[in-house]
Amino acid sequence: MATAAPRGGLLLGRVKPLDAILATAEKKGLKRSLGAVQLTLLGIGAVIGTGIFVLTSEAAQKAGPAMMVSFVIAGFVCAVAALCYSELAAMVPVSGSAYTYTYAVMGELLAWMVGWALILEYAVGASAVAVGWSGYFVGLLRSWGFDMPLAIAVGPTQGGLINLPAVVISLLITGLLIVGTKESARFTSALVAVKVLALTVFVALTFPVLSGAHFEPFIPNGWGTYGVVGAAASIFFAYVGFDAVSTAAEETVNPQRNVPIGLIGSLLFCTVFYLLVAAGAIGAMGADPVRDAAGNVLAPGSLEMAARCQSIVTSGATEPLVCSREALAHVLRTIGYERIGDLMGIAAFVALPSVVLMMMFGQTRIFFVMARDGLLPERLSAVHPKFRTPHVVTAFTGIVVTLAAAFLPVGKLADYSNSGTLFAFAMVALAVFILRRRDPNRVRPFRTPALSLIAPLAIVGCIGLYLNLPTVAKLVLIVWGAVGLVIYFGYSRSRSHVGRGVIEVPELSPDAPPSVGVAPLPGTPAPGNPEERA
Ligand code: ALA
Repeated sequence: MATAAPRGGLLLGRVKPLDAILATAEKKGLKRSLGAVQLTLLGIGAVIGTGIFVLTSEAAQKAGPAMMVSFVIAGFVCAVAALCYSELAAMVPVSGSAYTYTYAVMGELLAWMVGWALILEYAVGASAVAVGWSGYFVGLLRSWGFDMPLAIAVGPTQGGLINLPAVVISLLITGLLIVGTKESARFTSALVAVKVLALTVFVALTFPVLSGAHFEPFIPNGWGTYGVVGAAASIFFAYVGFDAVSTAAEETVNPQRNVPIGLIGSLLFCTVFYLLVAAGAIGAMGADPVRDAAGNVLAPGSLEMAARCQSIVTSGATEPLVCSREALAHVLRTIGYERIGDLMGIAAFVALPSVVLMMMFGQTRIFFVMARDGLLPERLSAVHPKFRTPHVVTAFTGIVVTLAAAFLPVGKLADYSNSGTLFAFAMVALAVFILRRRDPNRVRPFRTPALSLIAPLAIVGCIGLYLNLPTVAKLVLIVWGAVGLVIYFGYSRSRSHVGRGVIEVPELSPDAPPSVGVAPLPGTPAPGNPEERA
């Protein structure tokens, strides 16, 4: 039971005591069903996805063969962030990840901003993966002779009306999540094997035909926003998702041991694979950026680039890697493995939905915890009596994801998602740093090594990547943050449980839905309105 009353101060006030967070989770949490292996698979399942399968082309357009360096830069920033995450995830093994950690360390306002940014990471990220999946699906159908009408194959910015395949997959996954976490996690584990097998086959087939000439010139566009670091900022998306492991901490058996294993294990595994796949793709078919007539590199996802790619294909030349919407399948087809290229398409078709699932899972748990804290409408934290899942928040998340996937292109969605993720990661690194100083004696099942080096590296790395995102993606975070502030001060601040001096207490049996019951914190006045319940 917490004993500290909320502190004053706008920016750093209203810290939610760690003990209160832990007590709340203990008494009112979701059921614990995930183990270390399941959690690592969950991490790999969440991480390998559209980034490597689809956005490899976009990274190549910016960085050329040096996208391998971009993968290393993005992976490094994620690794240092993951080390920080692990300390907090093991110490505060409850749902809500970066949001919860920030609440405990830096107070409600910053926690709200982080939770709000995580919506970009998870919900918009889920949309990005759904759209990436759609690209493979449409390509596979085309390879089999069925050309889906453009109007229903892509969104308005690419000449269509609505991305129907992305809509369908988003809705299907929403239904699956409502039925249950354990079933969903099992489903994810099976699909991880498919992804790993597909990438392994890709590496095995491309490495024998690597050509050193394809790595020249290695850095065609320099290091800037439209070069190596810009590519790192975009391809960062390929690593996003490992933190979904910490989001599942409240549903993990022995989280103190298993969460750090899940986080760091899945990240290491993916980094090695990405480098091998990137080397295979570049070495097998080259990664030259596409340029306009004047020799300027075209922006990925732009109409000019689409037109240039179209004219290259029409001229009878092989479609360059940077133009493909199904990069890995395209490489295999180009080096003579037509049917295996199709199999790669099938693997993406089967496996990418697991990433959408994980990201939506993460989103629902964050909404759930924010609602449980009173910052979002109470109704969102309702748990389904039969399935024991937060069904209301899942349905709500599903609608948001589906709408974004229906109308926006994959590269832009990924960049918007990255802007929110980078903000959240930087805040976590800051939180772990502050907490070490403020509360050095608290038990830490996992300690970030060399924290005074790792935490600043994570913060500087996140800021550096953010600054190298396209301008619109940078603005998205700022505008989104402004909207969040309006909602916080207009709605959430007055309803916050911490602000009202109350914390949740258990009611009924441990299996009861975690939705109701509040008690005053010792030493604080009782809530003014007894009708308002947690
Ligand atoms: N890392 C995940 C992907 O690349 C989000 O799809």
